Amino acid sequence: MNFSDKYQDVINQARKLVQPALDLSDRMMREVAERSPSGLRERITQVVERPGKRLRSILLFLLASSNGETRDLKRMARAAASVEMLHLASLVHDDVIDSSEFRRGLSSMHSAFGNKIAVLAGDYMLAQSLIFVLEEEDRRIPQSLAKAASLLVAGEILEIDLARNTDISFEEYIRVIEGKTASLLVSCAKCGAILAGYNSEIVEESEKLGLHFGIAFQIIDDILDYGIGAESLGKKKFEDLQNGLITLPMLLYFQKNPKEEMENLIKNAYDSHIANLIVEKLKNANCFEEAKAVACSHLFKAAEVLEKLPSNPINTLLKDFFEAMAERRN
Ligand code: FPP
Ligand code: MG
Repeated sequence: MNFSDKYQDVINQARKLVQPALDLSDRMMREVAERSPSGLRERITQVVERPGKRLRSILLFLLASSNGETRDLKRMARAAASVEMLHLASLVHDDVIDSSEFRRGLSSMHSAFGNKIAVLAGDYMLAQSLIFVLEEEDRRIPQSLAKAASLLVAGEILEIDLARNTDISFEEYIRVIEGKTASLLVSCAKCGAILAGYNSEIVEESEKLGLHFGIAFQIIDDILDYGIGAESLGKKKFEDLQNGLITLPMLLYFQKNPKEEMENLIKNAYDSHIANLIVEKLKNANCFEEAKAVACSHLFKAAEVLEKLPSNPINTLLKDFFEAMAERRN
């Protein structure tokens, strides 16, 4: 079995294990979409019904089930529906910011209905996401999700402020992806650990797990944007490059090469020949492999936390889930 098959196999196993909770949270999101006022109903239903990977929910459910006891399916599904709705809201807004035409293989909300509708629909989805957990008895859950929503925005703003800055440091890059991506995965892991009934020490450790997983996840995403290892992305490649975002492979290139030639190429990256030339240069300088090694080091750190959880088949599956993540193709 090759690595990418292993990824699909692990995801399928994980999904199967948490299928009832996934189905319930999907149903909750669809109900919210269908109960929305006119003008929002059909548009949000389209977004909610797009096939997504649901990796955030899977992480939450696996952690919530990782101490061997059966948990309250409804509470788990509500927390996951909140996470996914928040994620979808942020993607609707992100596609406006990045001028992305496609999401999950279909027209993005703003390219279908315009920026005004997309901004408002994203706002509505953000509000609905928090309503899912309004009555959650453990107040740490809504608090953590509200915090994640704020951090997502802060990460995205930092990314915009740092765009085209070829002096971006490794620490600044990590700060961007911690905010825009890892913060929500921290919240998923935290909510999962809380729902599993773990003590505060393990809840805190789970946040570390989410952080490292989230950082690795975004680094892989940034490599995929160059088309490296990508398959059925459901979105266009080279968008980061064309938006002037200096992600890890490029940052690594700038650390060891003169800047001027590459800066000029980046200015013309909307031309696909130039974009492909940039990819060749990064390949020759080993930047994709080095970026992947950084992602793997974070996946390793995420897996280390699992040693503090009870050892059982779910824990093993989580470990496989982290290992396989480096090989994801979309
Ligand atoms: C995708 O990154 C974007 C995110 C992970 C977060 C976006 C967050 C916001 C727009 C802030 C608004 C937040 C709320 C709460 C509504 P990417 O552009 O690198 O990935 P992509 O290639 O999938 O677009
Ligand atoms: Mg984007």
